[in-house]
Amino acid sequence: MSELTAAVVGLGMGRAHLRGYLSHPRVRVVGIADPDRGRLDEVGDEFGISDRYGSLAELLDSRRPDIVSIAAPNVHHRPLTLSAFEHGCHVLCEKPMALNAVEAQEMLDAAAAAGKRLMINFSFRFRPQSFALKREIDSGVFGDIYFGRTVWHRRRGIPRLGGWFGIKELAGGGPLIDLGVHRLDLALWLMGYPEPEWVMGSTYDAIGRELARRAGVRYSVEDMAAGFIRFKNGATLVVEASWASNIGEKELMVTRLLGTKAGLLYRNREQGYEFEATVFLERDGSLYDMSLNAASPATQSAMEHFADAILDDTPHMASGEEGLTVMKLLDALYESAEKGRPVRVG
Ligand SMILES: NC(=O)c1ccc[n+]([C@@H]2O[C@H](COP(=O)([O-])OP(=O)(O)OC[C@H]3O[C@@H](n4cnc5c(N)ncnc54)[C@H](O)[C@@H]3O)[C@@H](O)[C@H]2O)c1
Repeated sequence: MSELTAAVVGLGMGRAHLRGYLSHPRVRVVGIADPDRGRLDEVGDEFGISDRYGSLAELLDSRRPDIVSIAAPNVHHRPLTLSAFEHGCHVLCEKPMALNAVEAQEMLDAAAAAGKRLMINFSFRFRPQSFALKREIDSGVFGDIYFGRTVWHRRRGIPRLGGWFGIKELAGGGPLIDLGVHRLDLALWLMGYPEPEWVMGSTYDAIGRELARRAGVRYSVEDMAAGFIRFKNGATLVVEASWASNIGEKELMVTRLLGTKAGLLYRNREQGYEFEATVFLERDGSLYDMSLNAASPATQSAMEHFADAILDDTPHMASGEEGLTVMKLLDALYESAEKGRPVRVG
C-alpha cells in the first residue's frame, strides 16, 4: 500500500485530526463531515477541502476512505464507528471510546468482524516526554511500579457550559470521562496496562450545579471525581479529575509513578499544555533527580502513527482493547460512586 485516504467526522477536535493527516506525505484527505453547515464550510475553507458532507452516511455514500477519524460528541462514537466498519474503513476514534464499556465492546466486535483496526486518540501519549518516560520504564530503570497518582484538575473549566459535555446521556459523564480518561490511559500505559481488580470512586457536583443554575442551563454530570484502583498485580493508582474545584491552578495535570528503583513526576508547565518530566532515582546510595530537557525531539501525532502502522502493517498504539479497559474502569468508578462502596472491575 503506497497511499492512504482519510475522512474526518466532527470538526471541533476534528481539526487536529485534519492537521495530523495533512502533515503525512502519504495520506490524502478525501472528505469531511459535520451536520453544522457553518462549521463544515469554515473548516473546509481553512484546510482547503472541497468534499464536504452533512453526515458520515452521506460521505460514505460517495467515498470509501481507508481511515475514518471520529471526533463527534461522545454519544455518536459507537454508531459512527459501527457505520465506518460496515463500510470497510479503519477507525481512529476520539476519547472517551464510548459512553460505557458495553458500547466499547460492540465497537471492538465490529472491528473484528470487519477485519479492520480501531485506535483511540489517547493524545497525551503522543508527546516527547511520554515516549522518553516509556522507554526508561521499558528498559527497567523503574523496577516494579507499585503506586501512581494521575490527576487533571481545573479551577473553573467546564467545557461550553450548557452544551453536550454537561449532559449525561450525551457525554457519559463529566470530567472523569473527559479529562480523567486521558490521565488514566497515560498512567496505565506507563505502568504496562496492569489488569484492574476493583475500584472505589466518589463524584461531586456542587460547584457545577451552582454554575449551571446561575447560567440557567442543564447540567447532569459530576464536576469532580476521585478514584482508587487496585490491580491484580498488587499495584494501586489514584485518579482525580475536575472541571471546577477550589484550587489555585487554572489547569493542573500531574502524573506520579513510584517504582522500586525510581519514580517519576510528569506535569504541565505554568498551568498550560506544555509538559516537564523528572525521574527520581537512587544509585550507590546517592539520590538523583534526572529532568527531561523540554527541547526533546518532536514526536508523531496519533494520526501520523495510525497511518504509518497501516501503511507498514505494524501494530498501532492505543488499541481499542486498551480503550475498553479504560471504559471498564470508568464504569466501575461511576458505579462505585453511586453505590458508595468498592466495585469489582469486569
Ligand atoms: N484527544 C483530545 O485531546 C481531545 C480534545 C478535545 C475533544 N476531544 C474529543 O473529541 C470529541 C469532540 O469534542 P469537541 O470538543 O470537538 O466537541 P465540539 O462540540 O466542539 O465539536 C463536535 C462537532 O461534532 C459535530 N457533530 C455532532 N454530531 C455529529 C454527527 N452525528 N456526525 C458528525 N459530526 C457531528 C458537531 O456539529 C460539532 O461540530 C469528543 O469525544 C471529545 O471528548 C478529544
